[in-house]
Amino acid sequence: MRHLINILDFSVEELDELIKVADDIIANPVKYQDACNHKILGTLFFEPSTRTRLSFESAMLSLGGQVLGFSEANSSSAAKGESVSDTAAVVSGYCDIIAMRHPKEGAPLVASAHSHVPVINAGDGGHYHPTQTLADLLTIHHEKGGFEGLTVGLCGDLKFGRTVHSLIEALSRYKGVKFVLISPEELKLPSFVKDEYIKEKNIPYEQSTSLDDVMPQLDVLYMTRVQKERFFNEEDYLRLKDSYILTTDKMKLAKDDMIVMHPLPRVNEISVAVDEDPRASYFRQTLYGKYMRMALILKLLNITV
Ligand code: CP
Repeated sequence: MRHLINILDFSVEELDELIKVADDIIANPVKYQDACNHKILGTLFFEPSTRTRLSFESAMLSLGGQVLGFSEANSSSAAKGESVSDTAAVVSGYCDIIAMRHPKEGAPLVASAHSHVPVINAGDGGHYHPTQTLADLLTIHHEKGGFEGLTVGLCGDLKFGRTVHSLIEALSRYKGVKFVLISPEELKLPSFVKDEYIKEKNIPYEQSTSLDDVMPQLDVLYMTRVQKERFFNEEDYLRLKDSYILTTDKMKLAKDDMIVMHPLPRVNEISVAVDEDPRASYFRQTLYGKYMRMALILKLLNITV
Protein backbone atom coordinates (compact mmCIF):
# COMPACT_ATOMS: atom_id res chain seq x y z
CA MET A 1 0.00 0.00 0.00
CA ARG A 2 1.35 3.45 -0.99
CA HIS A 3 0.63 6.80 0.67
CA LEU A 4 1.50 10.31 -0.52
CA ILE A 5 2.90 12.30 2.39
CA ASN A 6 5.76 14.12 0.66
CA ILE A 7 6.17 14.73 -3.08
CA LEU A 8 9.48 12.82 -2.86
CA ASP A 9 7.47 9.65 -2.14
CA PHE A 10 7.15 9.50 -5.93
CA SER A 11 10.06 9.14 -8.33
CA VAL A 12 10.46 11.49 -11.29
CA GLU A 13 9.25 8.65 -13.52
CA GLU A 14 6.09 8.28 -11.40
CA LEU A 15 5.44 12.03 -11.59
CA ASP A 16 5.87 11.88 -15.38
CA GLU A 17 3.40 8.98 -15.46
CA LEU A 18 0.84 10.95 -13.39
CA ILE A 19 1.17 13.86 -15.84
CA LYS A 20 0.58 11.43 -18.72
CA VAL A 21 -2.54 9.98 -17.08
CA ALA A 22 -3.87 13.47 -16.25
CA ASP A 23 -3.36 14.46 -19.90
CA ASP A 24 -5.29 11.38 -20.99
CA ILE A 25 -8.10 12.21 -18.53
CA ILE A 26 -8.32 15.74 -20.00
CA ALA A 27 -8.46 14.31 -23.53
CA ASN A 28 -10.80 11.36 -22.79
CA PRO A 29 -12.90 12.08 -19.66
CA VAL A 30 -15.62 9.55 -20.55
CA LYS A 31 -13.08 6.70 -20.51
CA TYR A 32 -12.55 7.35 -16.77
CA GLN A 33 -16.11 8.05 -15.63
CA ASP A 34 -16.66 4.64 -14.00
CA ALA A 35 -13.07 3.86 -13.03
CA CYS A 36 -13.78 4.20 -9.29
CA ASN A 37 -17.26 2.67 -9.15
CA HIS A 38 -18.00 1.51 -5.57
CA LYS A 39 -14.87 3.24 -4.23
CA ILE A 40 -15.14 5.84 -1.47
CA LEU A 41 -12.86 8.79 -0.76
CA GLY A 42 -12.72 10.07 2.85
CA THR A 43 -11.88 13.78 3.14
CA LEU A 44 -10.65 14.55 6.66
CA PHE A 45 -10.08 18.30 6.74
CA PHE A 46 -9.09 19.67 10.15
CA GLU A 47 -8.28 23.03 8.50
CA PRO A 48 -10.24 25.20 6.03
CA SER A 49 -9.97 24.54 2.30
CA THR A 50 -11.83 25.37 -0.88
CA ARG A 51 -9.70 24.05 -3.77
CA THR A 52 -8.04 21.01 -2.27
CA ARG A 53 -11.09 19.48 -0.64
CA LEU A 54 -13.55 20.28 -3.41
CA SER A 55 -11.17 19.28 -6.21
CA PHE A 56 -10.57 15.96 -4.43
CA GLU A 57 -14.32 15.47 -4.14
CA SER A 58 -14.89 16.50 -7.75
CA ALA A 59 -12.06 14.17 -8.83
CA MET A 60 -13.60 11.15 -7.07
CA LEU A 61 -17.12 11.94 -8.33
CA SER A 62 -15.79 12.31 -11.88
CA LEU A 63 -14.24 8.86 -11.54
CA GLY A 64 -17.62 7.38 -10.58
CA GLY A 65 -16.77 7.04 -6.89
CA GLN A 66 -18.33 8.49 -3.77
CA VAL A 67 -17.16 10.80 -1.01
CA LEU A 68 -17.62 11.14 2.76
CA GLY A 69 -15.85 13.30 5.30
CA PHE A 70 -15.75 16.49 7.31
CA SER A 71 -14.50 19.98 6.54
CA GLU A 72 -13.60 21.26 10.00
CA ALA A 73 -12.16 19.74 13.14
CA ASN A 74 -15.13 20.92 15.20
CA SER A 75 -17.55 18.69 13.32
CA SER A 76 -15.47 15.59 14.08
CA SER A 77 -14.64 13.86 17.35
CA ALA A 78 -11.28 15.67 17.32
CA ALA A 79 -13.30 18.32 19.18
CA LYS A 80 -13.76 15.75 21.98
CA GLY A 81 -10.06 14.97 22.05
CA GLU A 82 -9.82 11.98 19.68
CA SER A 83 -6.30 11.48 18.33
CA VAL A 84 -5.34 11.59 14.65
CA SER A 85 -4.24 7.96 14.82
CA ASP A 86 -7.61 6.77 16.22
CA THR A 87 -9.49 8.90 13.66
CA ALA A 88 -7.45 7.38 10.82
CA ALA A 89 -7.89 3.82 12.09
CA VAL A 90 -11.66 4.26 12.34
CA VAL A 91 -12.31 6.19 9.09
CA SER A 92 -10.12 3.83 7.07
CA GLY A 93 -12.78 1.20 7.80
CA TYR A 94 -15.38 3.38 6.05
CA CYS A 95 -13.55 4.28 2.85
CA ASP A 96 -10.95 3.12 0.30
CA ILE A 97 -8.63 6.15 0.33
CA ILE A 98 -8.19 9.19 2.60
CA ALA A 99 -7.18 12.80 1.88
CA MET A 100 -6.22 14.60 5.10
CA ARG A 101 -5.42 18.23 5.88
CA HIS A 102 -4.24 19.11 9.37
CA PRO A 103 -2.65 22.16 11.03
CA LYS A 104 0.04 20.04 12.69
CA GLU A 105 3.13 19.09 10.70
CA GLY A 106 3.37 15.32 10.39
CA ALA A 107 -0.28 14.53 11.20
CA PRO A 108 -0.95 12.79 7.83
CA LEU A 109 2.20 10.71 8.35
CA VAL A 110 0.87 9.59 11.74
CA ALA A 111 -2.49 8.82 10.12
CA SER A 112 -0.80 6.71 7.43
CA ALA A 113 0.76 4.50 10.10
CA HIS A 114 -2.70 3.68 11.52
CA SER A 115 -4.79 3.59 8.35
CA HIS A 116 -5.79 0.45 6.46
CA VAL A 117 -6.10 2.45 3.22
CA PRO A 118 -3.84 4.92 1.35
CA VAL A 119 -3.49 8.34 2.99
CA ILE A 120 -2.84 11.50 0.98
CA ASN A 121 -1.38 14.57 2.66
CA ALA A 122 -3.64 17.45 1.62
CA GLY A 123 -1.48 19.97 3.54
CA ASP A 124 0.15 19.67 6.96
CA GLY A 125 0.81 22.91 8.81
CA GLY A 126 3.78 24.86 7.43
CA HIS A 127 5.35 21.64 6.16
CA TYR A 128 4.23 20.17 2.79
CA HIS A 129 1.39 20.19 0.27
CA PRO A 130 2.28 17.52 -2.29
CA THR A 131 -1.00 17.47 -4.21
CA GLN A 132 -0.72 21.23 -4.80
CA THR A 133 2.67 20.40 -6.29
CA LEU A 134 1.03 17.87 -8.61
CA ALA A 135 -1.25 20.68 -9.81
CA ASP A 136 1.74 23.00 -10.16
CA LEU A 137 3.76 20.47 -12.15
CA LEU A 138 0.93 19.86 -14.61
CA THR A 139 0.46 23.63 -15.00
CA ILE A 140 4.16 24.21 -15.74
CA HIS A 141 4.30 21.18 -18.04
CA HIS A 142 1.32 22.40 -20.07
CA GLU A 143 2.22 26.06 -20.16
CA LYS A 144 6.04 25.91 -20.43
CA GLY A 145 6.38 22.55 -22.19
CA GLY A 146 8.52 20.93 -19.47
CA PHE A 147 10.72 21.74 -16.47
CA GLU A 148 14.33 21.71 -17.63
CA GLY A 149 16.21 25.00 -17.79
CA LEU A 150 13.49 27.10 -16.17
CA THR A 151 14.17 30.05 -13.87
CA VAL A 152 11.48 29.87 -11.22
CA GLY A 153 10.81 32.81 -8.90
CA LEU A 154 9.03 32.08 -5.63
CA CYS A 155 7.70 35.21 -3.99
CA GLY A 156 6.11 36.05 -0.63
CA ASP A 157 5.89 33.87 2.44
CA LEU A 158 8.61 31.29 1.78
CA LYS A 159 8.86 30.45 5.48
CA PHE A 160 5.35 29.14 6.13
CA GLY A 161 4.28 28.54 2.51
CA ARG A 162 4.07 24.74 2.37
CA THR A 163 3.28 24.80 -1.37
CA VAL A 164 6.66 26.45 -1.98
CA HIS A 165 8.50 23.79 0.03
CA SER A 166 6.94 20.92 -1.89
CA LEU A 167 7.43 22.62 -5.27
CA ILE A 168 11.12 23.26 -4.62
CA GLU A 169 11.60 19.62 -3.62
CA ALA A 170 9.95 18.45 -6.82
CA LEU A 171 11.68 20.85 -9.22
CA SER A 172 15.10 20.28 -7.62
CA ARG A 173 15.11 16.92 -9.41
CA TYR A 174 15.01 18.43 -12.91
CA LYS A 175 18.08 19.59 -14.84
CA GLY A 176 18.95 23.23 -15.29
CA VAL A 177 16.32 24.66 -12.94
CA LYS A 178 17.31 27.88 -11.16
CA PHE A 179 15.42 29.25 -8.16
CA VAL A 180 14.97 32.93 -7.33
CA LEU A 181 13.76 33.32 -3.75
CA ILE A 182 11.96 36.61 -3.18
CA SER A 183 10.82 37.38 0.36
CA PRO A 184 11.23 39.74 3.30
CA GLU A 185 14.05 38.75 5.69
CA GLU A 186 11.54 37.40 8.24
CA LEU A 187 9.86 35.10 5.73
CA LYS A 188 12.91 33.53 4.09
CA LEU A 189 12.90 29.89 2.99
CA PRO A 190 13.59 27.65 6.03
CA SER A 191 16.90 25.79 6.12
CA PHE A 192 15.19 22.39 6.13
CA VAL A 193 14.28 23.09 2.51
CA LYS A 194 17.13 25.34 1.39
CA ASP A 195 19.99 23.23 2.70
CA GLU A 196 18.70 19.85 1.61
CA TYR A 197 17.08 20.63 -1.73
CA ILE A 198 19.02 23.62 -3.06
CA LYS A 199 22.48 23.87 -1.45
CA GLU A 200 23.20 20.12 -1.15
CA LYS A 201 22.29 19.60 -4.78
CA ASN A 202 24.30 22.64 -5.97
CA ILE A 203 21.24 24.10 -7.63
CA PRO A 204 21.77 27.71 -8.71
CA TYR A 205 19.71 30.15 -6.69
CA GLU A 206 19.47 33.82 -5.88
CA GLN A 207 17.80 35.57 -2.96
CA SER A 208 16.24 38.99 -3.23
CA THR A 209 13.92 41.24 -1.31
CA SER A 210 12.93 43.05 -4.53
CA LEU A 211 10.50 41.51 -7.01
CA ASP A 212 11.16 44.28 -9.57
CA ASP A 213 14.90 43.58 -9.65
CA VAL A 214 14.54 39.91 -10.56
CA MET A 215 11.34 39.94 -12.63
CA PRO A 216 13.00 40.20 -16.11
CA GLN A 217 14.83 36.87 -15.72
CA LEU A 218 11.87 34.73 -14.63
CA ASP A 219 10.12 32.03 -16.69
CA VAL A 220 7.70 31.24 -13.86
CA LEU A 221 6.63 33.56 -11.04
CA TYR A 222 5.02 31.65 -8.15
CA MET A 223 3.28 34.17 -5.91
CA THR A 224 2.17 33.19 -2.39
CA ARG A 225 -0.04 34.59 0.33
CA VAL A 226 1.44 35.60 3.67
CA GLN A 227 0.09 32.80 5.88
CA LYS A 228 -1.80 34.70 8.58
CA GLU A 229 -2.79 31.49 10.40
CA ARG A 230 0.87 30.55 11.09
CA PHE A 231 1.86 33.87 12.71
CA PHE A 232 2.22 34.16 16.45
CA ASN A 233 1.25 37.82 16.57
CA GLU A 234 -1.06 40.02 14.53
CA GLU A 235 1.37 42.95 14.48
CA ASP A 236 3.99 41.02 12.50
CA TYR A 237 1.36 39.78 10.06
CA LEU A 238 0.03 43.30 9.45
CA ARG A 239 3.56 44.60 8.88
CA LEU A 240 4.43 41.88 6.34
CA LYS A 241 1.17 41.04 4.59
CA ASP A 242 1.53 43.53 1.73
CA SER A 243 5.26 43.06 1.16
CA TYR A 244 4.62 42.15 -2.49
CA ILE A 245 1.70 43.13 -4.68
CA LEU A 246 1.85 42.08 -8.32
CA THR A 247 0.29 44.77 -10.50
CA THR A 248 -0.14 45.27 -14.26
CA ASP A 249 2.73 47.79 -14.09
CA LYS A 250 5.05 45.20 -12.58
CA MET A 251 3.98 42.69 -15.25
CA LYS A 252 5.54 45.06 -17.85
CA LEU A 253 8.95 44.06 -16.43
CA ALA A 254 8.33 40.36 -17.14
CA LYS A 255 9.09 38.21 -20.18
CA ASP A 256 6.25 37.94 -22.69
CA ASP A 257 6.00 34.22 -22.00
CA MET A 258 6.49 34.24 -18.22
CA ILE A 259 3.60 32.59 -16.39
CA VAL A 260 2.20 33.73 -13.05
CA MET A 261 1.14 30.97 -10.69
CA HIS A 262 -0.43 31.11 -7.23
CA PRO A 263 -1.77 28.18 -5.19
CA LEU A 264 -4.65 30.46 -4.06
CA PRO A 265 -6.45 31.73 -2.06
CA ARG A 266 -5.05 35.15 -2.86
CA VAL A 267 -5.59 38.01 -0.47
CA ASN A 268 -3.92 41.13 -1.80
CA GLU A 269 -0.72 39.91 -3.42
CA ILE A 270 -2.00 39.87 -7.01
CA SER A 271 -4.08 42.79 -8.21
CA VAL A 272 -7.34 41.59 -9.84
CA ALA A 273 -6.40 43.58 -12.98
CA VAL A 274 -3.60 41.03 -13.57
CA ASP A 275 -6.28 38.33 -14.07
CA GLU A 276 -6.89 39.68 -17.60
CA ASP A 277 -3.25 39.09 -18.58
CA PRO A 278 -2.95 35.81 -20.54
CA ARG A 279 0.21 35.06 -18.54
CA ALA A 280 -1.90 34.74 -15.37
CA SER A 281 -2.29 30.98 -15.06
CA TYR A 282 -3.58 30.66 -11.48
CA PHE A 283 -7.19 29.90 -12.31
CA ARG A 284 -6.16 27.33 -14.94
CA GLN A 285 -3.88 25.87 -12.24
CA THR A 286 -6.92 25.06 -10.05
CA LEU A 287 -8.43 22.90 -12.80
CA TYR A 288 -5.14 21.11 -13.47
CA GLY A 289 -5.28 20.23 -9.75
CA LYS A 290 -8.49 18.26 -10.23
CA TYR A 291 -7.05 16.19 -13.09
CA MET A 292 -3.85 15.42 -11.20
CA ARG A 293 -5.88 14.36 -8.15
CA MET A 294 -7.89 12.02 -10.40
CA ALA A 295 -4.65 10.51 -11.68
CA LEU A 296 -3.35 10.22 -8.11
CA ILE A 297 -6.46 8.45 -6.81
CA LEU A 298 -6.19 5.92 -9.67
CA LYS A 299 -2.52 5.33 -8.93
CA LEU A 300 -2.93 4.81 -5.18
CA LEU A 301 -5.91 2.50 -5.74
CA ASN A 302 -3.93 0.55 -8.37
CA ILE A 303 -6.61 1.15 -10.99
CA THR A 304 -5.54 1.23 -14.64
CA VAL A 305 -7.96 2.35 -17.34
N1 CP B 1 -4.21 25.81 -2.70
C1 CP B 1 -4.93 25.38 -1.64
O1 CP B 1 -4.48 24.52 -0.87
O2 CP B 1 -6.16 25.97 -1.53
P1 CP B 1 -7.22 25.61 -0.39
O3 CP B 1 -6.64 26.03 0.93
O4 CP B 1 -8.46 26.35 -0.77
O5 CP B 1 -7.41 24.11 -0.42
